[in-house]
Formats: sequence, C-alpha cells, structure tokens
Amino acid sequence: MADIQELIRLAAEARDRAYAPYSGHPVGAALVTDDGRAFSGCNVENAAFPLGSCAEQSAIAAMVRGNGRVIAELVVVGPSDAPCPPCGGCRQRIREFAAPDTVIHFCNERDVLMTMTMDELLPEAFGPDQHDNPNR
Ligand code: THU
Repeated sequence: MADIQELIRLAAEARDRAYAPYSGHPVGAALVTDDGRAFSGCNVENAAFPLGSCAEQSAIAAMVRGNGRVIAELVVVGPSDAPCPPCGGCRQRIREFAAPDTVIHFCNERDVLMTMTMDELLPEAFGPDQHDNPNR
C-alpha cells in the first residue's frame, strides 16, 4: 500500500509547476511503482493546442525513464476541489503499465476524493496482453 499523502504531495507539487496557460487547468499526477519508487508529472500545453501533453503522460514518461514498468497506484490532483479524472487517452496510457485492479485516486491537495480501479476506468480495455510481443 502506497503512502497516499506523499503521492498527493508530489502530485500537488507537480501540478503547481504545470504549464497550462491556455486551459487554466493545471494537473499533477504522481505514481508509485511496484518496487516502491515515486514519479510525478504535470501537463504541458502548447500554442498549437493538440501538441499539449497530460500530467499522467509525463509521470509515465518519467517512470519509464527511471526503468519503471509497473504502476502500483496513481494519484491525480487537479486545480480545484473537484475530482480530476484522467482523460480517455490517459486511461489507455495508464493501462499499458497497470493491472485491471490497480487503483487510481482523484484527489485535491489534501484528500482522496474518489478511487476507481483501472478496470472501472477502462473496461474491456485493449491492453498489452492483446499483443504477443516478446520484447515487452
Ligand atoms: N489534463 C491532464 O493533464 N490530465 C487529464 O487526464 C485530463 C486533462 C490536462 C490537459 C490540458 O492541458 C488540461 O488538462 C485541460 O484539458
């Protein structure tokens, strides 16, 4: 079981460094790997709107750079006290490195507001198991 308060702290810290001048919607994500290491990320927008990237995407990139491959738990912190659920694209990105029973917490900067499993977020997912890739 991850230290949720520490993940919330890391996600909120990342959120506070987000570059979101167009949406005004800064987001931070923090995850812990199966071997207990934490990685975080924030959204980075662009004047050419479709080129922006999500907080979850950047946390996953940091994890992969750190040679992490399994997300044990993930926290998302949005700009307000309303839960900030991952977008559809990020649900698929998280699924790449998470099991169906992996939990994702939507938090404000203090508390968990809502928790869902990967399978609830993306049922009947198209995942890595659909590929027979020995390099994985
Ligand atoms: N955003 C994230 O970073 N994560 C999500 O899962 C939802 C959306 C960002 C993308 C964009 O920069 C801003 O929030 C508004 O959509």
